[in-house]
Amino acid sequence: MLSIGPLQLQSRVLLAPIAGHTDLAFRLLCRELGGVGCAYTDLLNSRAVLAGTSKSMVLAATAPGDEPFGMQLYGAPHDPLPEAACWAIDHGAAVVDINMGCPVDKVAKKNGGSLLLRDCPSTLELVDRIVAAVDRHSGGRIPVTAKVRLGWDEDSIVAPALARDLEAAGIALVTVHGRTTVQRFKGCANWDAIGEVVAAVRRIPVIGNGDVVGPDDAVRLIRHSGCAGVMIARAAIRAPWLFRQADAAIRLAGLGDASSDVNDRHRWEAARAEPTLHEKILTIRRHIDLCANHLDVRGAAELMRQRISWYGKSMGHVKSLKESIRTAADLESMQAAVDEWIEWAASDPEASTTPMASRGAGPRRDLDPSVS
Ligand SMILES: Cc1cc2nc3c(=O)[nH]c(=O)nc-3n(C[C@H](O)[C@H](O)[C@H](O)COP(=O)(O)O)c2cc1C
Repeated sequence: MLSIGPLQLQSRVLLAPIAGHTDLAFRLLCRELGGVGCAYTDLLNSRAVLAGTSKSMVLAATAPGDEPFGMQLYGAPHDPLPEAACWAIDHGAAVVDINMGCPVDKVAKKNGGSLLLRDCPSTLELVDRIVAAVDRHSGGRIPVTAKVRLGWDEDSIVAPALARDLEAAGIALVTVHGRTTVQRFKGCANWDAIGEVVAAVRRIPVIGNGDVVGPDDAVRLIRHSGCAGVMIARAAIRAPWLFRQADAAIRLAGLGDASSDVNDRHRWEAARAEPTLHEKILTIRRHIDLCANHLDVRGAAELMRQRISWYGKSMGHVKSLKESIRTAADLESMQAAVDEWIEWAASDPEASTTPMASRGAGPRRDLDPSVS
């Protein structure tokens, strides 16, 4: 199975850091649904965590059930990243990840994120200091990982050489998003280029990232590039059950822990299946509950109002469900609105048994209880 330094993971599928999304409630939700090898926090500013700002404390929060989790930090070579990495260890991180790919101005203009790809010698010097501090602080127990893009632009692809140097500097795993910084999210992720990074390192695992939107994409990316696992971001926001499906697809393809997977074929086939509409609505309900338990209540209601349109993308025509969540005054009325849908879906033979995928674009219009 996939290991990050001394840390053994149960799955080759990782939940990406996604600013604005990978809060504790969402990480717990994905884990409960299954298949998450490791989950990362949103990117955290090294100075902000050391100053204990309330926003970064919320983003760094963890709880039982959120294991193993990686804290992702960003900063420039002159920022206190080694100190912030030690702080992360003291606050439960099983992995410390350094962001070397964020293209957003707020981060890159401060010479962090993707800007680290433009001056590799300074970046490596920074990495030396972080790895030394983490080793000292944790007695070699906690691995440091890096998440990179291919390079700043097409004319400055640095990922293969940088990954090799990061390995030499003691980085335990490199995740590569197969786009350049200037590409942002345009075009397709370059899986060939991810393969070049895999070929460049000697021993450490490389995680492929970019455009895994269904379980079979995970298998294809591993086969195409030789990467040790995949990281999923955007598709997870609309389908948090995708980790379980992708993990199962990987095992069914013989790319997991082969000895036990063969005997468990039925189990993995069930895990690989698309959830029914009923199961998807139950997931939304659970997400609301986790937000209520782990986030500030008013913020949680606002968050779910925004999130529901993402879920809608994997559920077809559920306009009135989305509307009732968007217009709910608070979490309690949101929960009550979703409960009505759960009751309806449990009693509707099609919604409770038919996998969404087999319906094509989504549930038929007449499955919407608001349409009579
Ligand atoms: C809204 C949003 C926020 C993101 N935030 C982060 C972040 O905090 N740290 C990071 O390393 N990457 C971040 N990313 C990039 C993703 O982790 C991932 O590399 C990228 O979306 C490609 O993967 P995907 O095709 O599975 O979405 C973000 C992406 C999106 C869309």
